[in-house]
Amino acid sequence: MEAFRDLEALCWRAPSAHNTQPWRLRYQDGAVRVGWDPADALPAGDPTGRDLWLSLGAFVETCLVVAADAGLGAVFVPDHDLGERRVGWLRPARDRYDTPFRAGHVRDRRTHRGRYRSGLSAEVVAAVDAVARRAGGEVRVVPGVDRLARLYRVADRHLYADPAVVAELRSWLRLTPTHPGYHADGLTDRCLGLSRVEASGLRAALAGYLVLRPVGLPRLLATAGSPAGLGGDLLVLVGPAEAEPAAVVTFGRVLLRVWLTLQVAGAALHPSSQLVDAPAARAGLAGLLGVAPDRLLHVARVGHPDGPAARSARRVPAVHSGPTDS
Ligand SMILES: Cc1cc2nc3c(=O)[nH]c(=O)nc-3n(C[C@H](O)[C@H](O)[C@H](O)COP(=O)(O)O)c2cc1C
Repeated sequence: MEAFRDLEALCWRAPSAHNTQPWRLRYQDGAVRVGWDPADALPAGDPTGRDLWLSLGAFVETCLVVAADAGLGAVFVPDHDLGERRVGWLRPARDRYDTPFRAGHVRDRRTHRGRYRSGLSAEVVAAVDAVARRAGGEVRVVPGVDRLARLYRVADRHLYADPAVVAELRSWLRLTPTHPGYHADGLTDRCLGLSRVEASGLRAALAGYLVLRPVGLPRLLATAGSPAGLGGDLLVLVGPAEAEPAAVVTFGRVLLRVWLTLQVAGAALHPSSQLVDAPAARAGLAGLLGVAPDRLLHVARVGHPDGPAARSARRVPAVHSGPTDS
């Protein structure tokens, strides 16, 4: 337990929607309780909690990889309790968690929001699909996100049309290094790949959102921020029908394994949750794939990035931080 506590900072490198880092660990009864803080949930943008459960699952998988790399035997025991705000327990175990990934992969993982020079090869698609199938899901890949510009437009307009969602997003944006949370959490200008001028423009636009909304600001934001045009393929993580929260946590673990599988193959991932958040976009995508809309758990642009991505902030500075910003 004490050895794991020393590794906790590295575990915080796990990905979470808007980089809210919702997980909370409590060391009790000879195990580590994995819970969450509702202050770091996204009630407007993620009312069903889908991204919260995925983020917590990604965190659990990250903990298991980090523990295994340190030679610690650990197992995750699901014990989902909404009222207690708990997803389960990390318990000491005789055997190390069986994973091909290392602490270095956790340290170097990041979201790549820039241009991709190509999509995925058939081998890599088969590898990530196999990862999902072992958990009872599947991965589907739609080649060429640039051809899906209309779908992104529908989804982004839906997102930017809702004042509550925009206000929530704004509260997690850190568009200037002088923001008090710049080195702690949220989405920085650097991670979003914005120039100083673009970041100032976005700040001004969002500050005037309520005034500019009736004159077409949502449409402008949707067009300006669309990843369609930046290359790559679209990856869709398909789960079981009507997945319960605990099952979605399991698929958060799958998402992290998919993410690291891509990373090892030299590829990258850029989540596009708006495509599953907006009902019309979700229905359109589900129709394209021939699966029931409620089975789409996560959507991301994937491929081989043109360059490095900036390192995101964390509230807990990692001791083993390795290479710094790129
Ligand atoms: C469940 C989930 C949903 C996410 N959705 C989006 C998204 O819609 N758009 C986006 O740009 N990033 C999205 N992200 C990426 C997070 O913003 C990112 O993980 C976080 O900012 C930390 O950055 P890092 O992944 O580089 O460490 C998502 C991540 C998770 C785990």
